[in-house]
Amino acid sequence: MSVHIGAKTGDIAESILLPGDPLRAKYIAENFLEDVTCYNEVRGMLGYTGTFEGKRISVQGTGMGVPSISIYVHELINSYGVKNLIRVGTCGALKKEVNVRDVIIAMSASTDSGVNRRYFKQLDFAPTANFDLLKKAYDGALEQGMNINVGSVYTSDVFYNDDKDIVKLLADHQVLAVEMETSALYTIASRFGVNALSVLTVSDHLITGEETSSQERQETFNDMVKVALRAAVS
Ligand code: HPA
Repeated sequence: MSVHIGAKTGDIAESILLPGDPLRAKYIAENFLEDVTCYNEVRGMLGYTGTFEGKRISVQGTGMGVPSISIYVHELINSYGVKNLIRVGTCGALKKEVNVRDVIIAMSASTDSGVNRRYFKQLDFAPTANFDLLKKAYDGALEQGMNINVGSVYTSDVFYNDDKDIVKLLADHQVLAVEMETSALYTIASRFGVNALSVLTVSDHLITGEETSSQERQETFNDMVKVALRAAVS
């Protein structure tokens, strides 16, 4: 067992889906996986292992924000040997061309988090997705007829942010959406030589003010999970 995950060695599969909300982890395990066991309940951050299309896969809640996901990703890689990590989450769109309910595959992530600045000192590291996972997810999403956008996202430490200038500056640099975890996932995966990807559904729009209903969020979430699961096991 690691500090925050109560699993034994071998309990967690090499490929894992990472929703922020632990109840989403439970939902994915119960609705998409077979032969499921729950390996973690520490802090209520539920984790499950099962099979999808005959292949072993895990799903683990990460909590919200850079510090929380960093803890889980670090321990999954270093204590349990996880090799392919796919975040499944939501984001707020920053560009008019992106619509609510679209799926965004994050190629890279800018951030206002101080973590990388401290680690890399004067250098601006570029947190980047794994290309193989990205291509598999992109091809799978196209096959499913989903509205898919591939591009960069902004990982923010602040959810309630009134700074419109930052939103405009980033949108002017083709950043598609804001969320709170991807830069940490990509940086830590790169540090330990494993593969990571973020697949995000657009739950709200910072420019148009549009939002999704909980029913819409559930449907888009299901489509996104299928894409992520296929990418993880293929
Ligand atoms: N900001 C940060 N994270 C988010 C948002 C947002 O507007 N929407 C969904 N995740």
